[in-house]
Amino acid sequence: MKTIAAILAGGSGTRIGGEVPKQMLPLGGKLVLAHSVGAFDAHPGVDAVVVVCREDLIPTVQELSVREHWCKVRAVVPGGADRSGSSLAAIRAARLLASEEVRLLIHDAARPLVDAETISRCLQALESADAVEPVVPVADTIVQVDADGFLTHVPARDSLRAVQTPQGFRLDTIGEAYRRAAADPAFTATDDASVVLRYLPGVRVCTVPGSPRNRKLTLPSDLDWFESQIAL
Ligand code: C5P
Repeated sequence: MKTIAAILAGGSGTRIGGEVPKQMLPLGGKLVLAHSVGAFDAHPGVDAVVVVCREDLIPTVQELSVREHWCKVRAVVPGGADRSGSSLAAIRAARLLASEEVRLLIHDAARPLVDAETISRCLQALESADAVEPVVPVADTIVQVDADGFLTHVPARDSLRAVQTPQGFRLDTIGEAYRRAAADPAFTATDDASVVLRYLPGVRVCTVPGSPRNRKLTLPSDLDWFESQIAL
């Protein structure tokens, strides 16, 4: 079975400020995106890579692909208006590349420190599961609040995990989940495994240990932490 990795770099990165999306910022002498794509391009378990990015950045990413000597990047495609739209673009691109059964890993470009071990754990889990996501324990107590900011629920901390990417799926599974989601006018999601959980309740999503370094670059102040980790 083939494995395709899709790197989602279609965001505008507005929370980080400025005109340049966060995945196109420099980090340790390369672009953030170059770290993310490079991790999958170099992984022996990945057969092909798809990059999803803003339409105007497609030529830049294609040039980057040549400059970085990536050998597995098979497609650079435009993303959607939100992350789910970009996941859908990744699923469509993977279908066009696939002539057999495929595993699809979907990764946030904004997580440039993803490690080979986390990718391997996801691939290993997909030998027996239809869907997987890497998770880490949470240090803080997490609360649910109402629209006015008052507490409504405090879930037990030892049952909570913070979710990372790559999230991995049988291509047919994630495709069917998004097909059903498309029929739901109330559909909204911030990751992909939750789409499977919601629209394919018969499919069990397994978790594997993620890595504390596999954080998502979100705020300008995060950049210092990422630079310090690259320097290690
Ligand atoms: O918005 P957030 O920071 O959660 O984005 C996670 C990842 O999804 C980022 O790598 C971002 O580039 C990507 N994304 C995308 N298309 C969008 C929005 C976000 O590919 N429309």
